[in-house]
Amino acid sequence: MSEALRIEHVKFGYTREKSIFKDLNLVINQGEYVVLLGHNGSGKSTLAKIIIGLNEVRRGKVFVFGQELTEENLYQVRKDVGIIFQNPDNQFIGSTVRDDIAFGLENACVPHDEMEDIINEYASKVGMSEFLDKEPSNLSGGQKQRVAIAGALATHPKLLIMDESTAMLDPKGKREIRELTMALRKEDPSLTIISITHDIEEALQADRVIVLDKGNIVMNDTPSNAFKHPEVMKQSRLDIPFIYKLKEELNARGVKVESLDFERMVDELCQ
Ligand SMILES: Nc1ncnc2c1ncn2[C@@H]1O[C@H](COP(=O)(O)OP(=O)(O)O)[C@@H](O)[C@H]1O
Ligand SMILES: [Mg+2]
Repeated sequence: MSEALRIEHVKFGYTREKSIFKDLNLVINQGEYVVLLGHNGSGKSTLAKIIIGLNEVRRGKVFVFGQELTEENLYQVRKDVGIIFQNPDNQFIGSTVRDDIAFGLENACVPHDEMEDIINEYASKVGMSEFLDKEPSNLSGGQKQRVAIAGALATHPKLLIMDESTAMLDPKGKREIRELTMALRKEDPSLTIISITHDIEEALQADRVIVLDKGNIVMNDTPSNAFKHPEVMKQSRLDIPFIYKLKEELNARGVKVESLDFERMVDELCQ
């Protein structure tokens, strides 16, 4: 299986005195859907910015699709990576929604005569067709996130990083975007997704759950294994999915939850 991402012994801090990551190691394979969890300030966005070379590491190495990230190949490597930042206000360049998505396509070297169809297709996928000629600054937070998602997906990245990219959407909007990304994955099983989220239920759908706590990876496992350790989640000040709360609550009341049935319930939910 080929690797989408390899992080080796990475040290990074915004200041000399304080390191966010002291010795970070992580491998993500092509086609994996990884959910990255962690309390505010645990280093999730910092890690996303390391992967696209916005944060230059102080020690260690970062490989994206086998290529080591260096100053020279930064732009080459970024062509394969789509990132949706946490704050959609900081990522608009175009004066209209249409221009903004076009700008991303231009950077990805998509021919001009193909752009219009692609823009229309992805705007429609995120439910923003009617807003193509609007100024991004006049949109709501959730609408901005939808545009940012359309822009990132339209360039067909091999690695998609979503940094709390649906945080401003209502539950229906969140579900729509999740279904959209899942549909894209079905179309292209080699698409790798790193989803940074506080939506603990989303973690159940992932291939792998990674928990960051103060710059350390304290959990790196399948969802069903990860949530077998609610104490790790609690220590990292994270919630656990509803189904696991249900189990804890029933146990606390002395109701024996047949463990086999429970595993089956989880397996069913993780489908
Ligand atoms: N640009 C920056 N300059 C200095 N410190 C920063 C900067 N961005 C984040 N930090 C600090 O780095 C730590 C990790 O932040 P961040 O990666 O944004 O966490 P998360 O995304 O998990 O909430 C926090 O202590 C935060 O205050
Ligand atoms: Mg963040």
